Amino acid sequence: MTQAWTVVGQGAIGLLAASRLHLAGYQVQLFRRTAGPFRYQFEQADALHSIQLNAAQAPISLLLVPVKAYAVLSALQQLLPLLSPDAQIALCHNGMGSIEQVLPLLQPQQGLWFVSTSQATFKPTAQQIRHSGQGPSYLACIKATAPHYADLVRSAMAVAFEPLTPVDDIQPLLWRKLAVNSVINPLTALHQVPNGELAKPEFQPQISALLQEFIEVATACGQKFEFDEISTQVQSVIHNTAANYSSMQQDKAHGRPLELDAITGYLLKRAKAAGLTLPTHQALYQALHQQSL
Ligand code: PAF
Repeated sequence: MTQAWTVVGQGAIGLLAASRLHLAGYQVQLFRRTAGPFRYQFEQADALHSIQLNAAQAPISLLLVPVKAYAVLSALQQLLPLLSPDAQIALCHNGMGSIEQVLPLLQPQQGLWFVSTSQATFKPTAQQIRHSGQGPSYLACIKATAPHYADLVRSAMAVAFEPLTPVDDIQPLLWRKLAVNSVINPLTALHQVPNGELAKPEFQPQISALLQEFIEVATACGQKFEFDEISTQVQSVIHNTAANYSSMQQDKAHGRPLELDAITGYLLKRAKAAGLTLPTHQALYQALHQQSL
């Protein structure tokens, strides 16, 4: 019998991955707060699919955790008793810090993976999910176990997040994504604007300062970035996603918790440990915190 993939929650990226696995013939079940099956519509490349996924049943041996960074630890704590001793767990979210939280919780034969994705998804309603933009995804093994499992995880994640590139070290990619997210997400959330607004001249001094400070802390953590290169990348994401609302803008607009601690907060924490101050990131962090009080 093929082993089922269990996907945590019913967020947009999780349902994209679950739908693609289901349509490719994988067994997929959902772990969520509500009991019973979940029915929804999945729209991709102009095709509309009606999908029903059953509630997760233990033991769980293949687990995808595509929840926000701040929710990873509590999700994993609930799931640990349901996991098989050799379960493979794949995390997938913006921001950093969860790998360090999860690794100490795992048993010796349990494997850990990380998927970094730029796929764009949109949920018009709770029961509808639309794949709205293709973007690259990367998969890295954080804690390796049996080679048999590596093949299982790599082939399934290639289906779920296609186009996906396996990489040996996810850290440089996570830092690069952090550069983009630590500029676009807090600024669009604070000003409640689409990403393209950040191309306006009035934002440029702040964006440059955020990137300079990012490079300082990244360098202290052993990650090298050139200002011109990372600035070009941030500007091209702003340009290519001009009409999109960032995930943090949407979270704020809907009164949901923000991924601020895994993005700006993570940079501030790493800076403090390295004896650095990041005044522009600090001010943005405080401004967003004050707004949500
Ligand atoms: O979090 C997001 O919304 C995205 O990572 C990005 C690249 C900032 C585009 O909106």
